[in-house]
Amino acid sequence: MEILHVAAECFPMAKAGGLGDVVGALPKYQRRLGPIAKVVVPMYRTEFLYQQQWELVHEGSQYLGPQFFHYSVIKEKNNRLGFDLYLIDINGLLDREKIYGYPDDTERFLAFQTAVCDWVNAWQHLPDLIHCHDHHTGLIPFLLQYGFDFKTRLASIPSVFTVHNAQYSGAFGWEQKHLLPACDLSHWALLDWHHQINPLATALKTAWRITTVSPGYLQELRTSAAGLESLFDHEKEKSVGILNGIDTEIWDPAHDPYLLFHYTVQTVASGKQKNKEELCRRFGLDPDRPLICFIGRMVAEKAADLLAASMAACVAQHPGKVSFLVLGSGERDIEQQLDLLAAPLQDAVGIYIGYQEALSHLMYAGADFMLMPSRVEPCGLNQLYSLRFGTIPIVRAVGGLKDTVTDMGEQNGFGIRFEQASVQDIKAAVSRAVSLYYEQPGHLQQFREQVMQIDHSWEHAAKEYIQLYNSIQ
Ligand code: ADP
Ligand code: GLC
Repeated sequence: MEILHVAAECFPMAKAGGLGDVVGALPKYQRRLGPIAKVVVPMYRTEFLYQQQWELVHEGSQYLGPQFFHYSVIKEKNNRLGFDLYLIDINGLLDREKIYGYPDDTERFLAFQTAVCDWVNAWQHLPDLIHCHDHHTGLIPFLLQYGFDFKTRLASIPSVFTVHNAQYSGAFGWEQKHLLPACDLSHWALLDWHHQINPLATALKTAWRITTVSPGYLQELRTSAAGLESLFDHEKEKSVGILNGIDTEIWDPAHDPYLLFHYTVQTVASGKQKNKEELCRRFGLDPDRPLICFIGRMVAEKAADLLAASMAACVAQHPGKVSFLVLGSGERDIEQQLDLLAAPLQDAVGIYIGYQEALSHLMYAGADFMLMPSRVEPCGLNQLYSLRFGTIPIVRAVGGLKDTVTDMGEQNGFGIRFEQASVQDIKAAVSRAVSLYYEQPGHLQQFREQVMQIDHSWEHAAKEYIQLYNSIQ
C-alpha cells in the first residue's frame, strides 16, 4: 500500500505547532508497519531546506486564476526522516520564510493543492490513498473527483482527511472562485458553507473518511466547531477519532540532543533537578520553588489571554513559593500583557516571546508542572511530551486533554484537571500543584515515575490509521 500525506507542515522541514510534529512522525511509524508512506509539503525557505540535499523529480505547470505558474517537485535524497519527503516549489508564492500569515495565503495554498493534484496525475503508479491534513489541503478530495484535469485518473483514489484544528477553515469568498483549477462547478454546493468557499467544509463533505486527532474532540465538534457543528454531525458515520501519538525517538529524556542532562525513570529526580537549575539560571528564577511552564501559541484557543492575570494571582497567593516560565508567540496584545507582567515579577515569572525548539525541550525536562488551560484542544501534544519527561500536566478538561490526563484525585490518576478556562480555576489548580510540591514530595516523585511509563508512542495510532485505510481500499 502506498499513501501520500499532504500537509502544510512537516517537522523538521516546517513546524508551527503540533501539525508539524504529527506529519513528521506518523509516516515513519506507518512505514515500519509495511505501507509506503510519503509526504509532500510546500517548499518554504526554512533551515532544513538548506541543510539537506535534494533532487528534482518533477516539473509542471498549472493555472491560478489567469496566472500561469510553473512548479517543481524536489525530493530529499537521504531519507533523513525515515520516509520520502517531497517539496513543491512555486516561485514567489511558497518559497518564503514563514509557513502562514501572508495576505495571499489563500492563493498560496490553492496553488499548492493544484500543483499536488497535477503532480500526482503524472505518477505512473498512482498512490493507493491520499491522506490530507487540515484546511490547507481540504480542497484536494474535491479536486480529485471534480477537477477537469484530474478526475479521469484520480477520482477513484480514496481520500482521508484529518482534522487537527477546526478553528481554522481557510474560507474565502465566491468572488475568488476563478482561482480554483478548472472543475465541475455544478457541484458547487460541495464547496460552499454559508455562502463562502470553505476548504474545511469541502473536505468534510468530500473526503472518503474523516478523522479527528482525539476521540473526545470528535464528540465536541458536533456541538462546538466554529459554525461547522451540523456538518460534523451529518458526517459522523464516516468519522473516527484517532488519538495522536508522539515520536518517542525525538522526545526522549534519555537521549534528547537538546538536553545537557539526560535522565530515565530511575534518575528522574536528579535529572529533572539539573535541567531545572539550568533553566532557572537562564531566566533568573529560584530552582527550589515549583516551576510551572506554559509552551504554545499565544491565542485565545490556548487561553493564553488568561496567563498574565492568572500568574499574577498565583504569585500573590503564594509569595516567594512558585515560579512560572512561559514560551510562545502569537497575538501582539497577549504578548504585551505578558511582557508588562514580567518586569515587576521578574523573580517569579520568566517570559520568552518567540519560537525556540531547543528551549521547549529544556522546559519539558526542567519544569515540575506544565499548564494547559486551553479553551479548545483537539489533541494537544505538550501534555504528552510532558508525561514522557516526568512533568505533571495541569490541564483544563477539554478535547484531547480530557482523553489523556486523569486527575490525581482519582484512582491511578496522575495529573491536575480543572473545568473552566478562568483565572479562578487556574489559581485553584496551581494551588494544588504548589501543595503537592512542598507537602507531598514523595507523591510528586511517584507521579513522575508513573507518567514517564505511560505509552503514547505512535505504534498504536499508526495501526489504527492503516486499518482505516484498509477499510476503504
Ligand atoms: P498546537 O498544534 O495547537 O499549537 P500542540 O500541543 O499539538 O498544539 O503542539 C504544539 C507543538 O508546538 C509542541 O511541539 C510544542 O512544544 C511546540 N511549540 C509551541 N509553541 C512553541 C514555541 N514558542 N517554541 C517552541 N516550540 C513550541
Ligand atoms: C492542532 C491542535 C492540537 C493538536 C495538533 C496535532 O494544531 O490544535 O491540539 O495536537 O493539531 O494534531
